[in-house]
Amino acid sequence: MGRSLNVAIVGATGMVGRELLRVLEQRRFPIAGLRLLASARSAGSLMRFDGREYTVEETTPESFAGADLVFISVSSQVSRELVPIAARAGAVVIDDSKAWRLEPDVPLVVPEVNGETLSGHRGIVATPNCEVAPLVLCLWPLHRRNPVRRVVVDTYQSVSGTGWAAVEELKEQTRAALEGREYRPQVYPHPIAFNVIPHVEPFGEDGYTREEAAIVHETRKIMGEPELAISATCVRVPVLVGHSLAVHVEFERPFDPHEARELLSQAPGVKVVDDPAAALYPTPLQAAGDDLCLVGRIRRDSSCERGLALWIACDNLRKGAAVNLVQIAEELLARNLI
Ligand SMILES: NC(=O)c1ccc[n+]([C@@H]2O[C@H](COP(=O)([O-])OP(=O)(O)OC[C@H]3O[C@@H](n4cnc5c(N)ncnc54)[C@H](OP(=O)(O)O)[C@@H]3O)[C@@H](O)[C@H]2O)c1
Repeated sequence: MGRSLNVAIVGATGMVGRELLRVLEQRRFPIAGLRLLASARSAGSLMRFDGREYTVEETTPESFAGADLVFISVSSQVSRELVPIAARAGAVVIDDSKAWRLEPDVPLVVPEVNGETLSGHRGIVATPNCEVAPLVLCLWPLHRRNPVRRVVVDTYQSVSGTGWAAVEELKEQTRAALEGREYRPQVYPHPIAFNVIPHVEPFGEDGYTREEAAIVHETRKIMGEPELAISATCVRVPVLVGHSLAVHVEFERPFDPHEARELLSQAPGVKVVDDPAAALYPTPLQAAGDDLCLVGRIRRDSSCERGLALWIACDNLRKGAAVNLVQIAEELLARNLI
């Protein structure tokens, strides 16, 4: 790669921010200078990176002076405010909130699928929703062989997808339930311990949630298929890390599951785990900590002659967020776009 960059991370103290630091360290991303930024709440706290201690600073408009690259991992509301400031300061900004993903002049990128769209960036790049990255990683190699006509996806999403507070809520609620104590839900509208909740993000007027709509629009954008027929049901499950997806895909022509398994086993970013007779299939526990998207239970869809059914599990904090953020930065560097 050659060049080292001045990097700032907004949201460094968050669930994704912490993972991002680990990934930057593990992948030896070329960093000349690093600023760790968050809200006033965490300012002054200490974090370690690559053997050094850094003091977290409150994010202000001046925080971006001299930065070549800014990762922003905060809520959409805060991102809407901060991203333009960082971009105006001259940095390339890679954002992982929902705020910018569907803006026409913002590339929404999973490098293994549409890295080439980075060449059109105008200072802001977005990474997709944490279940969209694994979905497109598995759909893309199949789509190139035999075009996808329709997708139905049901998700089983871990609580770390909501952030720190939700992880604490699941742990505390589980302890309370086992001890027979009452624990009132604060993050979710219902108890998440020993339960599943078919409600991820607010509902729209059409009965779908914002998360479900995001899957539809982001998948279409990344695959460059604006008319793709796709619908989703998103469900929160009492898992700490790792999102799973049950996916039913209809293609233009029938698809032999053996051929699909072969294509997926050669696809970048994907690992096939598919020997059900030996109880081998992806689980979120197995996916947690793995940078690859695991896929298995690849079989004919018994309801559709031209269909396949798949089961996917992926670490939502790594390939679903931090790993993809860093891969985008690596791709920008490799293409000389920073
Ligand atoms: N969790 C996932 O699996 C996942 C996957 C893909 C994308 N995302 C997206 O990533 C973003 C962050 O999610 P998360 O799960 O990491 O959330 P989180 O654990 O709640 O962390 C939020 C971060 O935002 C910081 N922050 C809050 N207000 C701020 C402000 N005004 N200025 C600067 N920093 C501020 C917090 O700093 P303090 O410590 O100061 O509060 C914290 O570092 C969200 O947009 C989420 O949708 C998450």
